[in-house]
Amino acid sequence: MTGGRRDSPLLKSNGGGRNSRIAVAILIGVIFGCVFAFFFPHGLFVSTSAAVDSIAYKSDLLINISSCKSSERINMLKSEFMAASEKNAELKRQIKELTAKLRLAEQGKDNAQHQVLVMGEQHKAGPFGTVKSLRTNPTVIPDESVNPRLAKILEKVAVKREVIVALANSNVKDMLEVWFSSIKRVGTPNYLVVALDEEIANFCGQNNVPVYERDPDKGIDIIGRTGGNHAVSGLKFQILREFLQLGYSVLLSDVDIVYLQNPFEHFHRDSDVESMTDGHDNRTAYGYNDVYDEPSMGWARYAHTMRMWVYNSGFFYIRPTIPSIELLDRVAKRLSQEKAWDQAVFNEELFFPSHPGYDGLHASRRTLDFYLFMNSKVLFKTVWKNAQLSKLKPVIVHINYHPDKLARMKAVVEYYVNGKRDALESFPDGSN
Ligand SMILES: *[C@@H]1O[C@H](CO)[C@@H](O)[C@H](O)[C@H]1NC(C)=O
Ligand SMILES: *[C@@H]1O[C@H](CO)[C@@H](O)[C@H](O)[C@H]1NC(C)=O
Repeated sequence: MTGGRRDSPLLKSNGGGRNSRIAVAILIGVIFGCVFAFFFPHGLFVSTSAAVDSIAYKSDLLINISSCKSSERINMLKSEFMAASEKNAELKRQIKELTAKLRLAEQGKDNAQHQVLVMGEQHKAGPFGTVKSLRTNPTVIPDESVNPRLAKILEKVAVKREVIVALANSNVKDMLEVWFSSIKRVGTPNYLVVALDEEIANFCGQNNVPVYERDPDKGIDIIGRTGGNHAVSGLKFQILREFLQLGYSVLLSDVDIVYLQNPFEHFHRDSDVESMTDGHDNRTAYGYNDVYDEPSMGWARYAHTMRMWVYNSGFFYIRPTIPSIELLDRVAKRLSQEKAWDQAVFNEELFFPSHPGYDGLHASRRTLDFYLFMNSKVLFKTVWKNAQLSKLKPVIVHINYHPDKLARMKAVVEYYVNGKRDALESFPDGSN
């Protein structure tokens, strides 16, 4: 009757809303009654007016049905109807306000409860310099029912409930071979390839590489088989969820990465996400205060901004916590709705704070040492040309900044594993 307001849950329980709806209903009934009375004075009149009479007493608008033939009365009804409409609009506005207030109150309640859940009992703050906030969130209770087959595989493959995971289709077969050879070389047993097609599954089988073939899933499978680098990158957020639900920490790894040490000896395990960075020095990797200059503002010409190079979504260690799983869900959801680069979305979800109309994620994060978890810009532009830095032995090198990935991966193996000091010389800093 008062169409379009059913969306508000408050309407059902709010007295003001019900009254206004009844008032409008009665008015409409009365007007119908008048119309029928006018056109069918002997026919429908009796039953309609009886029906209206039976509820008319509930209303504060007392109207004599049989007098509605007079135009004076009709005008009065009209003005009363207008007044009621105005009242109705006012009530609707109040409902809107109350709904918003209620929603806020509920959110506040949820937040408070959530905080108590996470932090346990309330405490008094200790003396200056002794307080520490929480960054290590509790892990979820493992739920094997989400994927018993994967649970079995992980029981065998994982070490201390940790595992390296890479997604691969046959487009990246050659890189995958360099990838798993390097992992075998450093003696890290806990790694698993999620095979996105038969060829890769067989290839892993032949090479004694732990492999997991997913159950058929149309949407994922088409991208998995035919997708390019970025499309496959987006898939991992969906696939990783089950690993976390099963209670495992995952080192998500692209395949354009060479392992030179066991990575699990280099994590802090204090944050939801520990990620390698696209940064190339202390500032760009770990964050800095970037001053923006607007001379026309005179005295206030300098605006300070917080800057950091993005996390690399092709290599991150993620603990099985609620914020971690929420991160995966948020990124997967956005990637399914917009045409966006998964790495940009991953960073936006990790870093943007809550603001009007948006609840931020607030997961804890740690940037990995950019000399140990080295991107290819750092290696090819700086490190190998510097006498001191070239003595460092990274944990991994990720060929993220260069398109000739396979050739550079092999050169990295030559340089760090086989000690060929000139192995990197022939490669330009960039991709020219
Ligand atoms: C309604 O009008 C009829 C006829 O004009 C009259 O007999 C009756 O008393 C009126 N009722 C009220 C509630 O005014
Ligand atoms: C970068 O940070 C490290 C660790 O804090 C420090 O030892 C090093 O001197 C810094 N390098 C530069 C160039 O500032």
